[in-house]
Amino acid sequence: MNVTVRPGPKSLHQADFCAEIHAAAFAGAGIRAWSAGEFSELLDRPFSLLISAPGGILLAGIIDEDAEILTFAVHPSKQKQGLGAALLKVLMDHCRCRKVTKCILEVANNNYAAVKMYERFSFKQIGVRKNYFQTGRGFVSALVMEKSFLNDSDLA
Ligand SMILES: CC(C)(COP(=O)(O)OP(=O)(O)OC[C@H]1O[C@@H](n2cnc3c(N)ncnc32)[C@H](O)[C@@H]1OP(=O)(O)O)[C@@H](O)C(=O)NCCC(=O)NCCS
Repeated sequence: MNVTVRPGPKSLHQADFCAEIHAAAFAGAGIRAWSAGEFSELLDRPFSLLISAPGGILLAGIIDEDAEILTFAVHPSKQKQGLGAALLKVLMDHCRCRKVTKCILEVANNNYAAVKMYERFSFKQIGVRKNYFQTGRGFVSALVMEKSFLNDSDLA
């Protein structure tokens, strides 16, 4: 699998690519697609880390010892083939290299596939944000999940 890890400057093409994957992946959940302009701005930030492969993107922020998954999407035509897990594994390895102590994220509480994947990578629920995501069908609460890299013994 051809995975690209990109900190720092981005190309216009990259922001377009992210927006296209994000729109396709989140359409089913009724979540607003992030525009290429929004991705462009995020990619410009010094803490941003984009992990991408044909059909998938994972955008994270890493500041000192803390990492956060900002968005994560696999095109519907490429889902359930191991791509999401591969991208997340690259992020986990990157966190270990950067001596990150914890990685957090927010995920819709009805997003069974994503929650299951994060649990597979030893993320644990540490909180709930009520009515956090606005969807076309109303508000959905978010689970806040965290993976600690302290005493990190798993290989995921
Ligand atoms: C969540 C998402 C990124 C997973 O990507 P993917 O490439 O389909 O995931 P993988 O094929 O690598 O599967 C990894 C694990 O995720 C879980 N998983 C993925 N799809 C699943 C599904 N439809 N039902 C249940 N579990 C699922 C499983 O634990 C799976 O491991 P397994 O195959 O050993 O059982 C993808 O479904 C997606 O883009 N969804 C829409 C956007 C989204 O929800 N992003 C996350 C927001 S926080």
